[in-house]
Amino acid sequence: MAGERDQAESPSAAAAAEMFGDALPRAEKYAALLTGVGVERGVVGPAEADRIWDRHLLNCGAVARLVPARALVVDLGSGAGLPGVVLAILMPGIKMALLEPLARRVDFLEECVAVLELTNVQVVRGRAEEYAGRLMGDVVTSRAVAPLDKLVELSAGLARPGGRVLAIKGSAAEAELTRARPVLGRMGVGDARIVRVGRVAEDAAATVVTFTVPDHRTSGTASTGRSAARADIRPTGRSSGQAAGVAGSRKSRPNSRRGGG
Ligand SMILES: C[S@@+](CC[C@H](N)C(=O)[O-])C[C@H]1O[C@@H](n2cnc3c(N)ncnc32)[C@H](O)[C@@H]1O
Repeated sequence: MAGERDQAESPSAAAAAEMFGDALPRAEKYAALLTGVGVERGVVGPAEADRIWDRHLLNCGAVARLVPARALVVDLGSGAGLPGVVLAILMPGIKMALLEPLARRVDFLEECVAVLELTNVQVVRGRAEEYAGRLMGDVVTSRAVAPLDKLVELSAGLARPGGRVLAIKGSAAEAELTRARPVLGRMGVGDARIVRVGRVAEDAAATVVTFTVPDHRTSGTASTGRSAARADIRPTGRSSGQAAGVAGSRKSRPNSRRGGG
């Protein structure tokens, strides 16, 4: 297929082969979905097609080294599946919940999960605010969702106490972290820092703001719902499609299409 040939001939091919290993065919299929129906339906910008590997798949895949092998992961604002789908392809031992409010993107995500036969992924339609205290990931990832001073609370609301937040940020990471320090302080976060992962082209490296979600929050919206029954991602025992469920969540509709947006 043309996209796969292009990838094989591109300077990023070796990096992709090294990163994805046996999962490369699945990653190539995902790249083809992004650059094909993803662009057609407007869930991916047309300008992204030419840089889908460095700027998207390799950039997101670089974050895998920060994710424990069997973690429950929530990808906040997954969009077209970045970084959530990439991490699920790379790390079959994780359980991934792709949290996204917009119907068109949710439909695309569900199609990706089906076509790629990702049994470790659940698509959850909704906003982080709705799912605070109901989704409890060991790790909460995000990329290009909100300024850090807002994102830290949204992310922490989706993590279990002691869980880890991984926010992929751009060149303004340092400035964003400085601006977010007051809110991080109020949340009782003591270890927020910037980590750079990945090594090939500049676009393929990822700048990640990371911190541990405290066990006892002192204030902030992130603590909303902490006393609710634990609503975590757990295996549902389904044989295909969605092996990760959202327990105790009345709004959770795995693979549901709620129309609109
Ligand atoms: C710019 S897109 C980035 C998508 C993807 N993470 C990426 O890097 O390509 C931001 C996404 O975050 C979603 N989003 C924005 N605010 C959100 C919220 N409060 N809760 C959940 N998702 C949100 C949007 O619907 C959108 O799909």
